[in-house]
Amino acid sequence: MSTLEIKELYVSVEDQEILHGVNLTIKSGEIAGIMGRNGSGKSTLAKTIFGHPDYKITSGDILFNGESILELSTDKRARLGIFLGFQSPIAIEGVTMSNFLRTALHLKNPDEKLENPIKFHRKLKSQFEQIGLDASLVNRGVNENASGGERKKAEMIQMSVLQPSIVVLDEIDSGLDIDALRVVAENITKQREETNSGFLLITHYNRLLTYTKPDIIYLMHKGTIVKSGGPELAVELEEKGYEKLVAESSNQN
Ligand SMILES: Nc1ncnc2c1ncn2[C@@H]1O[C@H](COP(=O)(O)OP(=O)(O)OP(=O)(O)O)[C@@H](O)[C@H]1O
Ligand SMILES: [Mg+2]
Repeated sequence: MSTLEIKELYVSVEDQEILHGVNLTIKSGEIAGIMGRNGSGKSTLAKTIFGHPDYKITSGDILFNGESILELSTDKRARLGIFLGFQSPIAIEGVTMSNFLRTALHLKNPDEKLENPIKFHRKLKSQFEQIGLDASLVNRGVNENASGGERKKAEMIQMSVLQPSIVVLDEIDSGLDIDALRVVAENITKQREETNSGFLLITHYNRLLTYTKPDIIYLMHKGTIVKSGGPELAVELEEKGYEKLVAESSNQN
C-alpha cells in the first residue's frame, strides 16, 4: 500500500510562481485524473514530483508513505517506486530499449539477479508487439526516430516492466490513435489490478478516463486545484468547458 501526498505545494520557475498551493493524494489501487487548461501547471506538478531541477519548491511538501521525498534525487524517487510517463518523451540515442530497461529494472531491484539478456529481450519483444509496436524497436536506441504515439506506447512498456507503485502519466493519450488509446487504457487497468499501482492521469480528454474509470478527478486552474469530483466532473468539463466550470466553482467558494 503506497500513498503520494502533495501538500500545499508552491513551485516557482525562474522566480515566477507556477503552482500556488496544490493539494492532492494518490493512493495504491486508485486512479486520479487531472484536467486543466494549457499552461495551468499540470506538467509542472508532474516534473516537481520527480525533482526536476528547474522547478523550485518554495513551500509545501511531497510525502511518499508519510515521508518527505524533497531531499531525494530523481533516481532515488524512481527507486522508491514512483514513475513518470513524460508528456514529450525524449530519445536516448545509442542506448537500446532492451539494455535501458534491463539496467533500470536491476537498479530498482538491486537484490535480484540481473535478468538474462536473451530472455529479457524476448519478453520485451512480445510486450512491444502486444501494445502494437514493431518488435524491431527493442534493438533501437530508446525512442530513436520513433513517432509521438510510439514514444507514448514505449512509456507504457517502461511502466509495465518497472511495476511502480505510484504512476504519473502526463498526457499519455496525446498522439495515440483510437486503437492504441484503448490498448493503453487496458494496460493501465491491468497494472492497477495486478500490482495495485496508484495513478495520476493528466489528460485533456474524457475518453481515457471513460476507459480507465478514475476514482477522482481534479480540475487545475492557474496553479491550484479549484475543484474535485467523481468521473462526472470530466463529462461536465467536456460539456461546459473550463471557463464556465471555473467561474461556477469560484462562485460557490
Ligand atoms: N521550465 C520552464 N521555464 C519557464 N516557464 C515554464 C517552465 N515550465 C513551465 N513553465 C510555465 O509554467 C506554466 C505551466 O506550464 P505547464 O507545462 O505546467 O502547463 P500544463 O498544464 O502542463 O499545460 P499543457 O496542457 O499545455 O501541457 C506555463 O505558463 C509555462 O510557460
Ligand atoms: Mg503539460
